[in-house]
Amino acid sequence: MTGKNLSRRRFLANAAAASVGLSLTGLSGSLYGRPEEKPVRLGFVGVGNRGTGLLRHIMAFKGVEIPALCDINEAHLARAQKIVEETLGKRPEGYCSGPEGYRKLCERDDLDAVATATPWELHTPVMLAAMENGKYGATEVPAAITLEQCWQLVETSEKTGMPCMMLENVCYYRQVMTILNMIQQGIFGELLHCEAGYQHDVRYLRGVEGKIGHGGELLWRGRHAITRNGNLYPTHPIGPVAWWLGINRGDRFSYLVSMSTKSRGMNHLIAKMFGEDHPNARIKYALGDINTTLIRTENGVTVTLYHDTQSPRPYDLIFRVQGTEGIFSGTLDKFYFEDRSPEPHTWEDSGHYHQQYEHPLWKKLGKTAQNYGHSGGDYLEWHQFLHAVRNKLQTPIDVYDSATWSVISPLSEMSVAEKSKAVDFPDFTRGKWRVTRPVEIFGV
Ligand SMILES: NC(=O)c1ccc[n+]([C@@H]2O[C@H](COP(=O)([O-])OP(=O)(O)OC[C@H]3O[C@@H](n4cnc5c(N)ncnc54)[C@H](O)[C@@H]3O)[C@@H](O)[C@H]2O)c1
Repeated sequence: MTGKNLSRRRFLANAAAASVGLSLTGLSGSLYGRPEEKPVRLGFVGVGNRGTGLLRHIMAFKGVEIPALCDINEAHLARAQKIVEETLGKRPEGYCSGPEGYRKLCERDDLDAVATATPWELHTPVMLAAMENGKYGATEVPAAITLEQCWQLVETSEKTGMPCMMLENVCYYRQVMTILNMIQQGIFGELLHCEAGYQHDVRYLRGVEGKIGHGGELLWRGRHAITRNGNLYPTHPIGPVAWWLGINRGDRFSYLVSMSTKSRGMNHLIAKMFGEDHPNARIKYALGDINTTLIRTENGVTVTLYHDTQSPRPYDLIFRVQGTEGIFSGTLDKFYFEDRSPEPHTWEDSGHYHQQYEHPLWKKLGKTAQNYGHSGGDYLEWHQFLHAVRNKLQTPIDVYDSATWSVISPLSEMSVAEKSKAVDFPDFTRGKWRVTRPVEIFGV
């Protein structure tokens, strides 16, 4: 590493710690010797579909040990224990003692970090238990589903000095990081507007598709759709947008307004598949099929955010980025720049931009990352998290990001419930957002 790189890293690490007010006292220095030899000992809570997939990815990294796993479902736990044993040669201890079994796992003294891929409502409780027991936390998305949970995460991280990273894999997509690189190099000029959305027909994940063995029965996601109306899954689209806009790094989300359509999709599909008399075809679902949220930042940028999850449609995160010099459309995968594009007012194919501005992290690790889930995003998020744990650093997506991106759910629900009234974002950083600093990317 060059002296310049070293001092830049030190600066960023210090800036990250100082500017967010998180004390990392006691976290510096090496516990295990040379960096490449440091093991990371991870406990994992919730080994269903996502958790099992992630375990396989995590074990691809050298030095990862998994001494303990927890799930309330014995079959899921046993399956995961077997996978770890077959891969790493040692069977992790299993915790299956009821809904709060994760507490015992978090109390172990042979773990550096605890990760969770449980249903949404458990992410915060598991993270609190992890941090309170001196462990790094890594949570699947969203990190929290209520305003109170968001504050609990922030306050517990500050009190314990332990970082908590929401595993927002979309931030590490190749396209997202290319755009980040272009923005940092000023190619878009001054940013004005972004549009993004979780546009994904997930009715089958809510349990309405016969082929996954649930005869119209609702899974945990489906139960959220009965009582909640707003943007229930904001972090995939807003994580990248927040990085691009420097949210908590010089700007902040100021307020939002939110509006939902009527709810038809769940009833419609269940009736089509299981008959109109199926009890779940007759439920009154709260969740509007398409929710639209508008956010304004302190610096005058606007964001349109969609949550479009229960009508037939192809997957599309949109990712429109617009500045004083030009625009990108993720849906089209095309750019237009006033002073660069060959034809005025005409979209340009993206290929050469993606090559020219590919993010250094992708240049370095892209080939390997692409062999893993979510177009490489899963590999890179774990690469970054494990680096932070190994080196006792703040995580690149920190607890303030995790809370700020997740809080859109409860705030949008409040706005929808009150005729789209404007709702202010809390300032989880308590003023530290004013300090401009780049997004932290390790290893470049
Ligand atoms: N980032 C991504 O791309 C991505 C993709 C899929 C899912 N996810 C997230 O991953 C999480 C899990 O989703 P999934 O599809 O794997 O769900 P799932 O239902 O398949 O798995 C959840 C697991 O948690 C276990 N569990 C429930 N309560 C528990 C408790 N009290 N203690 C321990 N274990 C408990 C369940 O038994 C199950 O094994 C969700 O938060 C989801 O949003 C993220």
